[in-house]
Amino acid sequence: MESFQSVKMLMILALMGLQNFGRATTRINFGEQPLSKIAIHKATLALHDSASVRAHPLVLGLKGEDTEWVIVNLEYPNPSEDDWVGVFSPGEFNSSTCLPVNDPKEQTPYICSAPIKYKYANHSSSDYTKTGKATLNFQLINQRADFSFALFSGGLSNPKLVAVSNFISFYNPKAPLYPRLAQGKSWNEMTVTWTSGYDINKAVPFVEFGLKGDSQMRSPAGTLTFHRNSMCGSPARTVGWRDPGFIHTSFLKNLWPNSMYTYRMGHLLSNGSYIWSKIYSFKASPYPGQDSLQRVIIFGDMGKVIL
Ligand SMILES: *[C@@H]1O[C@H](CO)[C@@H](O)[C@H](O)[C@H]1NC(C)=O
Ligand SMILES: *[C@@H]1O[C@H](CO)[C@@H](O)[C@H](O)[C@H]1NC(C)=O
Ligand SMILES: *[C@@H]1O[C@H](CO)[C@@H](O)[C@H](O)[C@H]1NC(C)=O
Repeated sequence: MESFQSVKMLMILALMGLQNFGRATTRINFGEQPLSKIAIHKATLALHDSASVRAHPLVLGLKGEDTEWVIVNLEYPNPSEDDWVGVFSPGEFNSSTCLPVNDPKEQTPYICSAPIKYKYANHSSSDYTKTGKATLNFQLINQRADFSFALFSGGLSNPKLVAVSNFISFYNPKAPLYPRLAQGKSWNEMTVTWTSGYDINKAVPFVEFGLKGDSQMRSPAGTLTFHRNSMCGSPARTVGWRDPGFIHTSFLKNLWPNSMYTYRMGHLLSNGSYIWSKIYSFKASPYPGQDSLQRVIIFGDMGKVIL
C-alpha cells in the first residue's frame, strides 16, 4: 500500500512537471493531432499530366540506418498556397487497395489509407505559388513498408490527388528494430520487446545477450501480431489501418545486479542465415533493498515520434 501511494505521488509530480513544461513552451499544442485535419476519406482524383513528384534516394538505410532524410521535388503548373504533399506507406494507396464497403452510409473512397506525414508544398520554397516548383525534406523511419509521396490540391479538408511519386524503400524493410526494455517479473529479469517483418514461420526470433565484454548467450522470443479484422470498425479497419508487423518479446533472466549488459536481436532464417539488429546495452537492476539511487520516468506512449 505504502509503495502504491508513493508511485501515485510520483505520477502527480510527473504530471505537474509536464504541465510546467507545457507552459514554458506554450507553442506546443497537445490537443489536436495534426494528421486528423486531413479529410482523406473525401479525397477525389484530379490527376494532372504535367505535374510531377520525384523522391530520392531510392534505397534508404544502405549502412543499416533505421531513419533517413528523403528529398522530394515537385512541379505543378497550377500551384496554390494550400497544396500539400502526403507521405504514404505502403506506397501503393490507390482504390485497388480498398476493402469492400458494406455500410451504405460510407462512400466508396478513392484512397484507402491515410498519410503518415504531410507538409505544405510551400514549406521550404516560399516562391512555390509563382514558380510551381518546390523541394521538401521528409525524415522517414523504417516501418516494414515502402513509401510514396502524393501532391494534393484543395487543402487538407477537400483533397484532390494531383500526382504520385516513384516508390522508395529501406534496404531491409523487415529488419528487427526499436527494442523496448521493461523490468521483468522479478528484479533480475529484463524484458526486451521489438518489431520486425519476420513471422514465426519465416524465422526464429531470439535475443543474444551477456555481460559487456563477456561471452553472449541466447534467449528465445515469442511472436505476436494483430490483424485488420481484430479492429472493431472504420476508420481503424479502413483508412486508419497500418500493418503492425510482428511484435517479439524475450525475457532475459538471472541478470547480475548493477551490471552492464550488451544485447542484439536476431532472426534465424530457415536457410541458416541470420538477420541481426544493432548492438544495444542496458544496466541491470540493483539487488532489492540495496542502497542505490532510483529514478523514475513516467510517460504515456511507447510509439516513435519525430518532433
Ligand atoms: C504556405 O501555405 C500555408 C497553407 O496554405 C499558409 O498558411 C502559409 O502562409 C504559406 N506560406 C508562405 C510562405 O506562403
Ligand atoms: C492502382 O495501382 C495499380 C498498380 O500500380 C494500377 O494498375 C491501377 O491502374 C491503379 N488504379 C487507379 C484507379 O489508379
Ligand atoms: C537465405 O535467405 C535470405 C533471404 O531470402 C537471403 O538473403 C540469404 O542470402 C540466404 N542465405 C543463404 C546462405 O542462402
